Amino acid sequence: MPKDPDTMAEGTSSPSLGRTGPRHIAIIMDGNGRWAQARGRPRLFGHHAGAKRVREVVEACPSLGVEYLTIFAFSTENWKRTQVEVAGLMSLFRRYISKEMKALATRNVRVRFIGDRLRLDAKLVKLMDQLELETSANVGTHLTIALNYGGRDEVARATKRLARDVAEGTLNPEDIDEETLPRYLDTHVLPDPDLVIRTSGEARISNFLLWQSAYAEYEFIDTLWPDFTATELARLCDRYGRRERRFGAVNT
Ligand code: FPP
Repeated sequence: MPKDPDTMAEGTSSPSLGRTGPRHIAIIMDGNGRWAQARGRPRLFGHHAGAKRVREVVEACPSLGVEYLTIFAFSTENWKRTQVEVAGLMSLFRRYISKEMKALATRNVRVRFIGDRLRLDAKLVKLMDQLELETSANVGTHLTIALNYGGRDEVARATKRLARDVAEGTLNPEDIDEETLPRYLDTHVLPDPDLVIRTSGEARISNFLLWQSAYAEYEFIDTLWPDFTATELARLCDRYGRRERRFGAVNT
């Protein structure tokens, strides 16, 4: 069993019933490349513009009642991009974490990272660890950044840990149910997302939070990520509030 005191303190995968707005929003920030191309600039120019939007969105969360924000920054599949783009993104993450994120830390934002850190550069991992530690006492918005993250990879890594516990005799296979696996996922301290937003007009989930989004509402919007604003987020939260979530049941 993963041993993290936070698991007991906050962990819940139960849907956010009885609320009008989403408690947890997850965002697939897509369209940076096209945004840059439309301006005749290199793709990395779009990623830099995209990084700037993150702050506005994080800062909008408290007034919208959003407690958890999870953003997809780099997928396990993104390594297939050119070496120039991957190196540029890694450098952007390092810079972003050491400067921009520190500012967020002073605004009561608690930052976490999900994904497999093993393939990431040691310097970047150190910055990630530091930021998690520095913001660990913050109780405002919970910002989770998915970096070298893939939903299938996460489930595979979780299964490996679970299998080890079975082999060591600390977990009885007969006791495994729907509540067991989430305790081994990277997201074990987070509630499931209520709303998943993908920008740029693509209607795919691209291996993002596969287990966790089983009952999420989805919004696929045309806006390219560098054009996404807090106003648009507010509009999507409002629309979410008017949806009827039944979680497989029938409303009478
Ligand atoms: C997808 O757009 C975006 C990414 C693969 C990277 C996301 C990164 C950021 C928004 C910037 C940094 C974030 C943080 C947390 C610092 P794309 O390149 O696939 O765009 P395209 O589909 O138009 O080509």
